[in-house]
Amino acid sequence: MTVKKRVAILISGRGSNMSALIEAARAPDYPAEIVGVFSNRSDAPGLAIAAAAGIPTAFRSHKDFPDRESFDAAIQAILDEWRADLVCLAGYMRIFSTGFAERWTGRMLNIHPSLLPRHKGLKPQLQALDAGDAESGCTVHWVIPDLDDGPAILQRRVPILPGDTAETLAARILAEEHIAYPQALAMVCRGEVAL
Ligand code: GRF
Repeated sequence: MTVKKRVAILISGRGSNMSALIEAARAPDYPAEIVGVFSNRSDAPGLAIAAAAGIPTAFRSHKDFPDRESFDAAIQAILDEWRADLVCLAGYMRIFSTGFAERWTGRMLNIHPSLLPRHKGLKPQLQALDAGDAESGCTVHWVIPDLDDGPAILQRRVPILPGDTAETLAARILAEEHIAYPQALAMVCRGEVAL
Protein backbone atom coordinates (compact mmCIF):
# COMPACT_ATOMS: atom_id res chain seq x y z
CA MET A 1 0.00 0.00 0.00
CA THR A 2 1.30 3.46 -0.91
CA VAL A 3 1.68 5.86 1.98
CA LYS A 4 -0.29 8.95 1.00
CA LYS A 5 1.36 12.34 1.40
CA ARG A 6 -0.48 14.68 3.75
CA VAL A 7 -1.37 17.79 1.77
CA ALA A 8 -2.72 21.11 3.08
CA ILE A 9 -4.32 23.59 0.68
CA LEU A 10 -4.17 27.36 1.15
CA ILE A 11 -6.88 29.46 -0.49
CA SER A 12 -8.25 33.00 -0.50
CA GLY A 13 -11.37 32.65 -2.64
CA ARG A 14 -13.50 30.48 -4.89
CA GLY A 15 -11.54 27.27 -4.41
CA SER A 16 -12.21 25.52 -7.71
CA ASN A 17 -8.62 24.23 -7.88
CA MET A 18 -8.97 23.13 -4.26
CA SER A 19 -12.13 21.23 -5.25
CA ALA A 20 -10.27 19.55 -8.11
CA LEU A 21 -7.57 18.38 -5.68
CA ILE A 22 -10.14 17.17 -3.13
CA GLU A 23 -11.98 15.28 -5.88
CA ALA A 24 -8.78 13.66 -7.20
CA ALA A 25 -7.74 12.64 -3.69
CA ARG A 26 -10.95 10.64 -3.29
CA ALA A 27 -9.50 7.96 -5.58
CA PRO A 28 -8.05 5.14 -3.47
CA ASP A 29 -4.87 5.01 -5.54
CA TYR A 30 -4.24 8.79 -5.51
CA PRO A 31 -0.94 9.37 -3.67
CA ALA A 32 -2.15 12.30 -1.52
CA GLU A 33 -4.80 12.97 1.07
CA ILE A 34 -6.07 16.48 1.74
CA VAL A 35 -5.64 16.99 5.48
CA GLY A 36 -6.84 20.58 5.76
CA VAL A 37 -7.77 23.80 3.99
CA PHE A 38 -6.59 27.15 5.32
CA SER A 39 -7.92 30.53 4.21
CA ASN A 40 -6.75 34.03 5.03
CA ARG A 41 -10.27 35.26 4.27
CA SER A 42 -13.27 34.16 6.33
CA ASP A 43 -15.60 34.75 3.36
CA ALA A 44 -13.67 32.53 0.92
CA PRO A 45 -16.36 30.36 -0.73
CA GLY A 46 -13.85 27.49 -0.85
CA LEU A 47 -13.89 27.19 2.95
CA ALA A 48 -17.54 26.13 3.01
CA ILE A 49 -16.96 23.74 0.10
CA ALA A 50 -14.07 22.09 1.97
CA ALA A 51 -16.08 21.84 5.18
CA ALA A 52 -18.98 20.27 3.28
CA ALA A 53 -16.52 17.70 1.91
CA GLY A 54 -15.59 16.80 5.50
CA ILE A 55 -12.14 18.39 5.39
CA PRO A 56 -10.78 20.29 8.42
CA THR A 57 -10.66 24.03 7.76
CA ALA A 58 -8.97 26.97 9.44
CA PHE A 59 -9.07 30.73 9.03
CA ARG A 60 -6.80 33.47 10.33
CA SER A 61 -6.73 37.14 9.36
CA HIS A 62 -3.41 38.93 9.02
CA LYS A 63 -5.14 41.91 10.67
CA ASP A 64 -4.95 40.05 13.98
CA PHE A 65 -1.15 39.80 13.81
CA PRO A 66 1.50 42.51 14.14
CA ASP A 67 3.59 41.46 11.16
CA ARG A 68 4.00 38.98 8.32
CA GLU A 69 6.29 36.73 10.37
CA SER A 70 3.80 36.25 13.20
CA PHE A 71 0.94 35.63 10.76
CA ASP A 72 2.99 33.00 8.96
CA ALA A 73 3.93 31.45 12.32
CA ALA A 74 0.20 31.02 12.98
CA ILE A 75 -0.19 29.28 9.60
CA GLN A 76 2.81 27.09 10.44
CA ALA A 77 1.19 26.05 13.72
CA ILE A 78 -1.94 24.96 11.81
CA LEU A 79 0.14 23.04 9.26
CA ASP A 80 1.99 21.36 12.14
CA GLU A 81 -1.32 20.38 13.72
CA TRP A 82 -2.40 18.83 10.41
CA ARG A 83 1.05 17.20 10.05
CA ALA A 84 1.23 18.46 6.48
CA ASP A 85 3.99 17.05 4.28
CA LEU A 86 3.19 19.34 1.36
CA VAL A 87 1.34 22.61 0.78
CA CYS A 88 -0.66 23.46 -2.33
CA LEU A 89 -1.47 27.12 -2.92
CA ALA A 90 -4.73 27.42 -4.82
CA GLY A 91 -5.64 31.04 -5.36
CA TYR A 92 -3.88 32.07 -2.14
CA MET A 93 -3.45 35.82 -2.43
CA ARG A 94 -0.98 36.69 0.31
CA ILE A 95 2.77 36.99 0.10
CA PHE A 96 4.81 34.90 2.57
CA SER A 97 7.65 35.98 4.78
CA THR A 98 10.98 34.78 3.45
CA GLY A 99 11.42 32.46 6.42
CA PHE A 100 8.13 30.66 5.78
CA ALA A 101 8.76 30.38 2.04
CA GLU A 102 12.26 29.02 2.65
CA ARG A 103 10.99 26.53 5.20
CA TRP A 104 8.57 25.07 2.64
CA THR A 105 10.82 25.28 -0.40
CA GLY A 106 10.63 21.96 -2.23
CA ARG A 107 7.38 21.10 -0.43
CA MET A 108 5.08 23.91 -1.64
CA LEU A 109 3.34 24.16 -5.03
CA ASN A 110 1.32 26.88 -6.72
CA ILE A 111 -0.80 27.15 -9.84
CA HIS A 112 -0.73 30.24 -12.03
CA PRO A 113 -2.94 30.92 -15.08
CA SER A 114 -0.20 31.66 -17.58
CA LEU A 115 2.65 29.87 -19.28
CA LEU A 116 5.33 31.01 -16.83
CA PRO A 117 7.78 32.66 -17.03
CA ARG A 118 5.41 34.76 -19.18
CA HIS A 119 2.93 36.99 -17.36
CA LYS A 120 3.72 36.78 -13.68
CA GLY A 121 1.64 38.68 -11.14
CA LEU A 122 -1.93 39.90 -11.38
CA LYS A 123 -4.37 39.52 -14.31
CA PRO A 124 -2.13 37.21 -16.35
CA GLN A 125 -4.96 36.43 -18.79
CA LEU A 126 -5.30 40.13 -19.61
CA GLN A 127 -1.52 40.40 -19.89
CA ALA A 128 -1.55 37.56 -22.47
CA LEU A 129 -4.27 39.29 -24.51
CA ASP A 130 -2.51 42.67 -24.33
CA ALA A 131 0.72 41.03 -25.49
CA GLY A 132 -1.06 39.60 -28.55
CA ASP A 133 -0.06 36.03 -27.61
CA ALA A 134 -1.40 33.18 -29.76
CA GLU A 135 -1.62 30.82 -26.82
CA SER A 136 -1.77 30.76 -23.07
CA GLY A 137 -2.26 28.13 -20.39
CA CYS A 138 -1.43 27.30 -16.82
CA THR A 139 1.66 26.37 -14.87
CA VAL A 140 2.00 24.32 -11.71
CA HIS A 141 5.31 25.33 -10.18
CA TRP A 142 7.42 25.07 -7.06
CA VAL A 143 7.09 28.05 -4.75
CA ILE A 144 10.31 29.82 -3.94
CA PRO A 145 10.60 33.10 -2.04
CA ASP A 146 10.20 35.14 -5.27
CA LEU A 147 6.58 35.67 -6.37
CA ASP A 148 5.31 33.41 -9.20
CA ASP A 149 8.80 32.11 -9.71
CA GLY A 150 10.28 28.71 -9.14
CA PRO A 151 10.69 25.85 -11.60
CA ALA A 152 7.66 24.59 -13.49
CA ILE A 153 6.39 21.10 -12.72
CA LEU A 154 3.68 20.90 -15.39
CA GLN A 155 2.09 23.20 -17.97
CA ARG A 156 -1.06 22.86 -20.06
CA ARG A 157 -1.64 25.08 -23.06
CA VAL A 158 -4.77 26.57 -24.61
CA PRO A 159 -5.19 28.63 -27.80
CA ILE A 160 -6.16 32.28 -27.62
CA LEU A 161 -9.13 32.70 -29.96
CA PRO A 162 -10.35 35.74 -31.88
CA GLY A 163 -12.77 37.72 -29.74
CA ASP A 164 -11.42 36.33 -26.46
CA THR A 165 -11.86 38.49 -23.39
CA ALA A 166 -9.97 38.05 -20.14
CA GLU A 167 -13.06 36.18 -18.88
CA THR A 168 -13.41 33.72 -21.78
CA LEU A 169 -9.68 33.05 -21.74
CA ALA A 170 -9.67 32.60 -17.95
CA ALA A 171 -12.47 30.04 -18.22
CA ARG A 172 -10.60 28.08 -20.92
CA ILE A 173 -7.43 28.09 -18.82
CA LEU A 174 -9.29 27.17 -15.61
CA ALA A 175 -10.58 23.93 -17.16
CA GLU A 176 -6.95 22.97 -17.82
CA GLU A 177 -5.89 24.02 -14.32
CA HIS A 178 -8.31 21.47 -12.88
CA ILE A 179 -6.52 18.74 -14.83
CA ALA A 180 -2.99 20.03 -14.33
CA TYR A 181 -2.98 20.51 -10.55
CA PRO A 182 -4.06 17.00 -9.51
CA GLN A 183 -1.67 15.55 -12.08
CA ALA A 184 1.29 17.65 -10.90
CA LEU A 185 0.60 16.91 -7.24
CA ALA A 186 0.50 13.19 -7.98
CA MET A 187 3.86 13.44 -9.77
CA VAL A 188 5.38 15.19 -6.75
CA CYS A 189 3.91 12.70 -4.28
CA ARG A 190 5.21 9.76 -6.29
CA GLY A 191 8.68 11.30 -6.31
CA GLU A 192 8.69 11.66 -10.10
CA VAL A 193 9.74 15.31 -9.79
CA ALA A 194 11.59 17.20 -7.11
CA LEU A 195 13.00 20.69 -6.78
C1 GRF B 1 -6.72 30.32 -10.50
O1 GRF B 1 -6.82 30.86 -11.77
C2 GRF B 1 -5.27 30.09 -10.13
O2 GRF B 1 -4.48 29.74 -11.21
C3 GRF B 1 -4.86 31.44 -9.60
O3 GRF B 1 -5.98 31.92 -8.91
C4 GRF B 1 -7.17 31.31 -9.43
C5 GRF B 1 -7.85 30.64 -8.28
O4 GRF B 1 -9.09 30.11 -8.65
N1 GRF B 1 -3.68 31.35 -8.80
P1 GRF B 1 -9.80 29.06 -7.69
O5 GRF B 1 -9.95 29.73 -6.34
O6 GRF B 1 -8.95 27.85 -7.63
O7 GRF B 1 -11.13 28.80 -8.32
